[in-house]
Amino acid sequence: MSSYDMSNKNISVLGLGYIGLPTAIVLAKAGHRVMGFDPNIEVVKSLNSGKIHIVENNLQGEFKKVVDSGNFKAYSEIQPADVYIMCVPTPFKENVSDEKLADLSYVQSAAETVSKVVKKGDLVILESTVPPLTTKMVTDIIVNKTGMDKNDFYVAHCPERVLPGRILYELEHNDRIIGSEREEAALMAKNLYESFVKEGTCYVTDDITAEMCKLVENTFRDINIAYANELSIICNDLGIDVFKLIELANKHPRVNILTPGVGVGGHCIAVDPWFLVEKFKDKAKLINTARHVNDFKPLWVSNQVEEAINYDKNVKIGVLGLAYKPNIDDLRESPSIILAEDLIRKGYNVYGCEPNTSKERINDIDVKSLDYVLDNCDYLVITLANDEFVQENNKKKILTKKHYNCIGMK
Ligand SMILES: NC(=O)c1ccc[n+]([C@@H]2O[C@H](COP(=O)([O-])OP(=O)(O)OC[C@H]3O[C@@H](n4cnc5c(N)ncnc54)[C@H](O)[C@@H]3O)[C@@H](O)[C@H]2O)c1
Repeated sequence: MSSYDMSNKNISVLGLGYIGLPTAIVLAKAGHRVMGFDPNIEVVKSLNSGKIHIVENNLQGEFKKVVDSGNFKAYSEIQPADVYIMCVPTPFKENVSDEKLADLSYVQSAAETVSKVVKKGDLVILESTVPPLTTKMVTDIIVNKTGMDKNDFYVAHCPERVLPGRILYELEHNDRIIGSEREEAALMAKNLYESFVKEGTCYVTDDITAEMCKLVENTFRDINIAYANELSIICNDLGIDVFKLIELANKHPRVNILTPGVGVGGHCIAVDPWFLVEKFKDKAKLINTARHVNDFKPLWVSNQVEEAINYDKNVKIGVLGLAYKPNIDDLRESPSIILAEDLIRKGYNVYGCEPNTSKERINDIDVKSLDYVLDNCDYLVITLANDEFVQENNKKKILTKKHYNCIGMK
């Protein structure tokens, strides 16, 4: 048995959301005893009554199995363990200014919570997506709160890469990057993750490289989408079809331009590049510009729609798609919502349609069924290729109406 043997551990998972809950489940499936901690009492209540509180494929069934096995229970107080895994939110601060700054208060509070129970020899893992040097901040908080020496316990960063809708599959199949300033900590974390990463490889590096790895992956996507979105604006001036242009440009063997859309949303790609901009204000110029291009796109579409309807405030506008990508219920940072709200703010009649939510109102937006929008709206803005929209379009019910087509629906 290696000195880093990490089988059958007691593990406390802090934060039982989209990342923490599935991670807790795969760890419990792998034979660890997992104690989930979440300060949201409703989350704990729901889980301990046997019901998961998030929408994710196959999660309810797998959750039931680990509860029945006795390997998972949720708590509203932190439980002492051998390993602590922090899966807490890392949004940006709201309403600060044009600049978006990382809100690390959840990470700080989770590190303080761990400090109440952590002991010598324990392993603390930060999974949340964070700006560089945050893992060292976690170590410092624990040292300050407990009085332990930083070599008395182990800290590693293991960022998450899963795609909503495929989380359980990707947890077992994706490669993982595991970083720590101490090799022993990284190897302990590697052994732990290898207990459930069945197909992927766990790569070990230092903590700052691991932090940067997650940020540069999402920033790569953001910059490439910004290029496509910028092209869509240029093509509009030229009066040519950006989708056709990209299709032809991609015939080049070394060119692969992404598809433009209404903007970029979600809690990852629309957030994480800001962590680099904040830290490297004068150096991260391309990253900063890409963020602004993508953030501007829904407002630009709003202007295009106004022009198309001749600024007529009597026109009823239907926005088809309100989530941040097709066929999901996640509304965080959604550019379609920004577009719809901008039109409402300018005084237009807007109805939103999002078949994946049961909400009847999202902020100022009235959410209606697809039938309602198709029957009552004079002008459609197509922002997402949700399955329902594609089916209705196949029946010639969408593009036959006056519309603005953000996604090149055919
Ligand atoms: N959701 C994704 O697809 C995804 C993918 C990759 C990375 N991430 C990253 O993973 C992290 C978590 O994201 P998420 O989507 O799971 O968030 P989430 O909002 O779904 O869940 C976070 C949970 O943490 C709890 N929490 C808040 N403060 C806490 C504290 N001090 N101690 C313990 N629990 C606390 C909340 O109540 C909530 O249940 C973020 O950094 C995010 O960027 C998310």
